[in-house]
Parts: sequence; structure tokens; C-alpha cells
Amino acid sequence: MNNIEAVIFDLDGVIVDTAIFHYQAWKRLANEMGFDLTIHQNEHLKGISRFESLDIVLEIGKINHLTKKEKEVLATRKNEWYKENILKMTPNDILPGVKMFLQKLKSANYKIAIGSSSKNAGIILERIGYQNYFDAVVDGNKIAFSKPDPEVFMKAANELKVNPRNCVVFEDAAAGIEAAHNAGMKAIGVGEHDVLCKADAIISDFKNVDISVFNKLIKY
Ligand code: BG6
Ligand code: MG
Repeated sequence: MNNIEAVIFDLDGVIVDTAIFHYQAWKRLANEMGFDLTIHQNEHLKGISRFESLDIVLEIGKINHLTKKEKEVLATRKNEWYKENILKMTPNDILPGVKMFLQKLKSANYKIAIGSSSKNAGIILERIGYQNYFDAVVDGNKIAFSKPDPEVFMKAANELKVNPRNCVVFEDAAAGIEAAHNAGMKAIGVGEHDVLCKADAIISDFKNVDISVFNKLIKY
């Protein structure tokens, strides 16, 4: 048996496929400035804050002369494009298998939380009908440091009143796996092996995943 009491989910790329909307918006911004952003480079933007992401994008484009104000304008522009997409989301955008897995967790009395770096998490949860579903939601508005800092997951554990050692995190970003480990939690990667190689277990998606997935963590 495992000692997991609470399950913390990243949002973008785990519950919903908004990671692609982030990529499209950053790529559009890069293209407007005259350079490209590859899907591989985009992996480094996952899990980190909007402004940290912008800094990486600008570094890729070798643009290093912008003022804070100019950067704010760019970040806002990217966010407006991103919001056009998330505002169209519906409960049908919940990734396959997620709904069922969450129901199984609730029935088995696990506590569930969202731990996301996004300031748009509230909008997304509302669009997909999950605004009151989780026992705790910690998002980009509640934290000072983004992943791989453990703050977001520590706050979630604190809100749930569960010891971090008894929490497991589902994450699609390398920075998120690191954040979970920095919080003393187990981490299950959702996605590709090469990106998530530091995770304690990896699933490709939530189709057919049930609570027995935690048994993969026993050896840790
Ligand atoms: C994370 C995403 O969930 O949120 C990152 O993985 C994103 O790619 C970050 O940069 C911040 O999101 P937002 O919505 O506040 O710009
Ligand atoms: Mg993510």
C-alpha cells in the first residue's frame, strides 16, 4: 500500500491542453519580432512564469535592449492572444481520462488540488466547470516564485493540511517535476520520457489510469 493522501495537479498540459496555446502565442510574438521558437525551445517555457518565459524568448531572439515597460507590453500582448483561446474552452477540453481519474480519487477520499504557475488558472477552471471541484487551488496569483521553486506545491499541501511527504504531483514540465521533488513530494510525469526523465513514474496520458498508478511509487 502507498501512503499518498493528496494529489496535486498541474493545470496547463495536465488537466487541459493549454500548453499548446501558450506555445502558439509565444511563437507568434517571436515571429513578429523576426525569429522563430521551436517546439523543443518551448519545453523550457513550461511551468515557469509569464515574465520568466518572456525573458527566455527574448534571449532566443538575442533581444536584450528592452525596458521593463516594453517587456510588459509584450507579455500583455502574448497574454491577450492566449486568452482568446482559453475563453473558448468548454468542459469538452478536459483531457481524456482526467475526469474519470479525478472522480476515482474523490471516491477513494484522496484530497485533490491544483498547483499551477498560471495567473489564468481561475478562468480555465471556470470554463471547464471545475471552479469548485478541487479542495485547494494555488495558482500564479498566490505565489512569489515559480517552478522549480517548491512554493506552489508547499502552499497546496498547506491548504490541504497534508504533509508534503504524503502528496504526489502530476506534471508535464521538467521544472514542475523538480519543484515537486524540492517540496519533498513524489512526481508523476505526464508526457514524454526524454523531457520527464527525473519523474518517479511517467504516464503518457490519463486514459485507463487508476489509483494503482501510485503503486509504481512504492520503491521511492
Ligand atoms: C504555466 C505554464 O502553467 O503557467 C507556463 O506551463 C506559463 O507555460 C505559466 O508561462 C504562466 O501562465 P500565465 O497564464 O500566467 O501567463
Ligand atoms: Mg504544465
